Amino acid sequence: MCGIVGYIGKKEAAPILIDGLKRLEYRGYDSAGIAVLSEEKLIVQKKAGRISELEKSLSLKEIHSTIGIAHTRWATHGEPTDANAHPHVDCKEEIAVVHNGIIENYNALREFLSRRGHTFRTATDTEVIAHLVEEYYTGDLLQAVRFALAKLEGTYGIAVLHKKKREVVVARNGSPLVIGQGKNEYFVASDVSAIIRHTREVIYLEDGELARITDDGFSVINLNEEEITPKIEEVTWTLDQIEKDGFSHFMLKEIFEQPNTIRNSIRGRLNFTEATARLDGLDRNLDALREAKRIILTGCGTAWHAALVGEYMIENTAGISCEVEYASEFRYRSPVLDESTVVFAISQSGETADTLAAVKEAKRKGALALGICNVVGSSIARETDGGVYIHAGPEIGVASTKAFTSQLVVLSMVALLLGRIRQLSFENGKEIATAISELPSKIEKVLKLDKRIRDIAGKFYKRSNFLFLGRGYNYPIALEGALKMKEISYIHAEGYPAAEMKHGPIALIDENMPVVFIAAKNAVYDKIVSNIQEVKCRKGAVIAVISEGDEEIKNYVDYAVEIPVTIDMLSPILTVVPLQLLAYHIAVLRGLDVDKPRNLAKSVTVE
Ligand code: G6P
Repeated sequence: MCGIVGYIGKKEAAPILIDGLKRLEYRGYDSAGIAVLSEEKLIVQKKAGRISELEKSLSLKEIHSTIGIAHTRWATHGEPTDANAHPHVDCKEEIAVVHNGIIENYNALREFLSRRGHTFRTATDTEVIAHLVEEYYTGDLLQAVRFALAKLEGTYGIAVLHKKKREVVVARNGSPLVIGQGKNEYFVASDVSAIIRHTREVIYLEDGELARITDDGFSVINLNEEEITPKIEEVTWTLDQIEKDGFSHFMLKEIFEQPNTIRNSIRGRLNFTEATARLDGLDRNLDALREAKRIILTGCGTAWHAALVGEYMIENTAGISCEVEYASEFRYRSPVLDESTVVFAISQSGETADTLAAVKEAKRKGALALGICNVVGSSIARETDGGVYIHAGPEIGVASTKAFTSQLVVLSMVALLLGRIRQLSFENGKEIATAISELPSKIEKVLKLDKRIRDIAGKFYKRSNFLFLGRGYNYPIALEGALKMKEISYIHAEGYPAAEMKHGPIALIDENMPVVFIAAKNAVYDKIVSNIQEVKCRKGAVIAVISEGDEEIKNYVDYAVEIPVTIDMLSPILTVVPLQLLAYHIAVLRGLDVDKPRNLAKSVTVE
């Protein structure tokens, strides 16, 4: 995600800031920028692309400054361009702001500030902060920032400079911010990895706190202006531990991020008054979506599995015929498309060559092409006629986890929106919206099963084959569970719709074949229980993901993992998490490099 670095002291600030930004590169970014004060001049430089591009554009030797702020941006609002990169400045170019997080009410604030005569230069949510601080500034930067923050809805970690003030003001709400205390110098960062080369004495700001940092020290207050006594802590972690947030691998960190990434995917998008979803990126396509006769979902790998779940969601909720296509096949067939077809391309990276080619093919044939991407401004996001970002943050583990669940959440909101503009009742819409909003806390509960799943992994990690079976909404989850297992543990695994077992895979079942069932209580539950019994009487070992409180099924399975209950269409978002953890723990027990599995690429940009 975005990263913040700041410095005030006696040394040259720019090299320290650039070095700090480089330490944050692992978090993913698409542009970078820096603001320093030099003889009462505010110098701002920002560039789309790598930090090295920014470095090239700076004549570091000519900039003499001992105070500054810097930022790496991972776009959420507005494309990754030079202008949209941080820092953002006010009208008079006296105030510079770097910001992590999302300001939800930025549209309303932008209108308010425009009416007050402020001129906006970028498409970002952050720019409103610079103008709000300008609006309230009467000589005290901390106070102006405090007044500005009172107007904001959303999340932020910010650092602010004013050209006439030798101080850095920082604040936090829902996005981390840490102050580092050196000898006659202070550092600011969104992530301690950016500053631990310089100091290990840090103060973590809490939500709702602001700090003024000068050459002589710093003071912390809350939004009500009460003074806070800061707690100085010593960082004992290594750099590697910090980058992974204490987890042993990025994949595990990303699995555990899912309550938050899903919160980010949902934020501001559920409209309970109208019992629908508000997806800005589809606004200008609503007529086409209302009239569409057919929807095609396309993607590769895990994104293709998300599409399979999406097909069920859209058909059941919106009553539109929906098909799923491998992007690689779609582009080389002669797909029958016309203006009444809407194609959604699903891609975490937004760069997968086959998916991009499928988008171009769909457009060429007259279909409306929309995107469901994670990376803002990526090729697919640019090539499509609209779409929805999943806001899952950078995914570093090659095997996709958090992007998958966010893709499913976004698809559920697309289905809800499509349903509500077509046939779905208010009551049913409300039920879906409520269930979506409950997902983050339910995933938190699923993650508590980590130890149980690790124990199960301990019993099976030496096996050579796995079978994954599920039905209905959870059939694609059987495919995804098998894919995760293959990708990172190199165990041969197959996923099947459970009823298909009788048409082939049953021949493989004996005491050496572990079978993972996704057996949540739903319309096809009884049929799944029969399938489990068929495996058991052939001596297969059964691991089952079951609904909380289902005591009966425990009589038939060897290992049960109980997860919270939700509505059918959202069940895959919960059932996939234990399968991600199972694959992860098995791969670790086999001593494999989980984050960089052999032969696989995170983003496949060639055919
Ligand atoms: C690669 C990755 C997968 C990913 C697939 C599609 O195979 O290893 O994790 O699901 O590409 O990537 P995309 O970025 O288009 O979602």
